[in-house]
Amino acid sequence: MSAAPQATPAGEVVCQSSDVSVKSAIRVEIGDVPVAVVRDSEGDLHAIADICSHAEISLSEGDVEGCTIECWAHGSSFDLRSGEPLTLPAYEPVAVYALTVQGEDVFVDVTNILNGVGAP
Ligand code: FES
Repeated sequence: MSAAPQATPAGEVVCQSSDVSVKSAIRVEIGDVPVAVVRDSEGDLHAIADICSHAEISLSEGDVEGCTIECWAHGSSFDLRSGEPLTLPAYEPVAVYALTVQGEDVFVDVTNILNGVGAP
């Protein structure tokens, strides 16, 4: 008996799981939407908008600590699950997108915004 075929996750493949090491992030673009794919300290992957809510800075260039990423420009940290800034000067959240890992493929669906934040 063969296994039932797996349903293809929503969104598109943006990278391979092994492309993103623990406590690091990469920038990908889906259409014209910049996305930071981030692996937290626990090894879990997240997809957030790759533009800080404070100014046009790429969050994927920041440091990952625990389940947060820090904007290098002025130091705001964002929760990778909620998109909420934990420190000033940013005070608005960034979008958090649906991310699914199937095998080595990482799928991100930018039409499925988990925290309801609109495009920057
Ligand atoms: S641009 Fe990110 S905190 Fe200012």
